[in-house]
Amino acid sequence: MSDSETKSIKASVRTAYGDLASRLARGVDAAGCCGCGPIVVGNYDPNEGIPGLVRQSLGCGNPIAAAQLREGEAVLDLGSGAGLDALLSQRMVGASGLVLGLDGSAEMAKLAERNRLMHGAANVRFLVGDIESIPLRDACVGVVISNCVLNLAPNKRALVREVFRVLRPGGRLVASDILRVGGASAEHASDPSLWSACFAGAAAPEVWRELLLEAGFCEVEVSPQRFYDPDKLPLSSSCGVGPEFCSGLLRARKPA
Ligand SMILES: C[S@@+](CC[C@H](N)C(=O)[O-])C[C@H]1O[C@@H](n2cnc3c(N)ncnc32)[C@H](O)[C@@H]1O
Repeated sequence: MSDSETKSIKASVRTAYGDLASRLARGVDAAGCCGCGPIVVGNYDPNEGIPGLVRQSLGCGNPIAAAQLREGEAVLDLGSGAGLDALLSQRMVGASGLVLGLDGSAEMAKLAERNRLMHGAANVRFLVGDIESIPLRDACVGVVISNCVLNLAPNKRALVREVFRVLRPGGRLVASDILRVGGASAEHASDPSLWSACFAGAAAPEVWRELLLEAGFCEVEVSPQRFYDPDKLPLSSSCGVGPEFCSGLLRARKPA
């Protein structure tokens, strides 16, 4: 992919999520990044989530449930959106921990900060920046989580290297994301709306495995988790490709 294609995809993704943040701030329910509810429904137990915030979730899984966060850990949430996962993480790491949320959309970061103030979370910070060039120093967090964001990075090799760089030795990555599990059609790779809907940039499990191992990670696991009803996804009707996607979980550890 050329530099100009990468820039234009990132700009259109930023605009799409900036617009979505404004709608969420006005009280419109999220219904998932692709606008199809099934992706978000059931990811969180309403009793353990933060009810108003679950409605603003644009995730495709629940990385917090898999991350087994511990008191005192430093956590980075890549593409933190309206802040649900960061605020839930904060409850687990407690006052001695720290949670950083990074998002490319200034409007999303503003909405997350508003939610943080509403829920009185002291040890959470929301930053604006690109997940392919994380504005943090080397080896500064113990856990990187992410929910339906990694697919949005046009340069996944740069992203994976950045995650490796900011993790402390022994630190772990736990991310939910859309995976491509069937054949790919080249034509939708450049469709901006399918990029922001989290499909065009979705990679196959074996691509993630290779990139994670190449960056130096160990204990790499990429597993499909949930398949969707094709009739409810906008993809098949809008671009003629089949339902070759599912949500899945990526896990990896930086060697100690
Ligand atoms: C599908 S939403 C998921 C948001 C959140 N993780 C959740 O579960 O609700 C994707 C988020 O990633 C952000 N994003 C997309 N590309 C990004 C990038 N290159 N760097 C940082 N954030 C990005 C978007 O602004 C948006 O908030």
